[in-house]
Amino acid sequence: MRKIEIFDTTLRDGEQSPGVNLSQEEKLEIARQLRRLGVDVIEAGFAAASPGDFQAVKRIADEVRGVTICSLARSLPNDIESAYEAIKGAEHARIHVFLATSDIHMRYKLRMTPDQVIEQIDQAVRYAKKFVDNVQFSAEDAGRTDLEFLAKVAETAIRAGAVVFNVPDTVGYMTPAEYAARFQYLREHVPNIDKVKLSCHCHDDLGMAVANTLAAIQGGCDQVEVAVNGIGERAGNAALEEVVMALATRADAYQAETSIEFAQIARTSRLVSKLTGMVVPPNKAIVGANAFAHESGIHQDGVLKEKTTYEIIRPETVGFQESRLVLGKHSGRHAFQEKLAELGYELDTEALSAVFQKFKELCDKKKTVTDEDILSLLDDQSVAH
Ligand code: KIV
Ligand code: ZN
Repeated sequence: MRKIEIFDTTLRDGEQSPGVNLSQEEKLEIARQLRRLGVDVIEAGFAAASPGDFQAVKRIADEVRGVTICSLARSLPNDIESAYEAIKGAEHARIHVFLATSDIHMRYKLRMTPDQVIEQIDQAVRYAKKFVDNVQFSAEDAGRTDLEFLAKVAETAIRAGAVVFNVPDTVGYMTPAEYAARFQYLREHVPNIDKVKLSCHCHDDLGMAVANTLAAIQGGCDQVEVAVNGIGERAGNAALEEVVMALATRADAYQAETSIEFAQIARTSRLVSKLTGMVVPPNKAIVGANAFAHESGIHQDGVLKEKTTYEIIRPETVGFQESRLVLGKHSGRHAFQEKLAELGYELDTEALSAVFQKFKELCDKKKTVTDEDILSLLDDQSVAH
């Protein structure tokens, strides 16, 4: 099994979600929970972005031990100095320097030539190395960067001392096969590539962030940048819980593992949702309210007989209670009988048929049938306890 490092960017890219603004205390609470969750790196923020961000990164670096704390920095001396000042108290500190490398970004945003970009990367990484050994370089918009140029960027960053080279799909443009091929290309064409960890960072603009992250792992990447509940700039980042549970559930396919404590996933998801105000959609994989709920009669019957018929992960594994059987018009007798037993009723076949009939009629009128509804059906039928 290959070890895949989990670089959590909930507090940096995740906080870039429109409308999210976490206080220092809230960031610290999330960082402590991320530590419990077992991530390898916490990207605590962007120290140069504002005095509040600086303080938050500094408090996390000073107070959360046993995990690498990282600050983002543009490839500018002032940013790098702020990042260092904020993280220097950390037990393990990383500076994460970035610069855009795609033609579109170099021409329209940076207004720099490729040679100037290479020069600035070299200087920025060398400058960051004066402060810490653990320097990560990200080639922003690497997904749309000319591949030969990307290899030159990687070579430059490695020669200047970067220990992690990140290949972000900044605008969520890649297909999984293309993204995997980028990693394979870098592994085959960049001198000394084995001296660095390769990292992926995927956005979900086309709904492929998790698929691309998993493809990057198959292409040879060592670190995945993810956010809890998939929050982040625009459509968000790859969801930590989805990547981690895909690796765990399909270890046969990926041959890779993480150090995440699965049982902490539900609690982390709830905390991030509560503090960011970003509601988790009910149908969200792994952490949505319906992720372990079964509605149809056929499914409920299957799960009651043997959970693995319709559950590839046990809810308890990721920190939830038992799976839920949701009673509705698709439910069958088996699930209904189970619910009656849960409520303390055991009916003979005739009584069960009569109440089940009433239940089905009610389902056509009401979207959700509650325990109280079922109890009143039993009362109406004068069923003995
Ligand atoms: O999406 C992106 O390119 C980023 C970088 C700063 C890593 O967030
Ligand atoms: Zn990003």
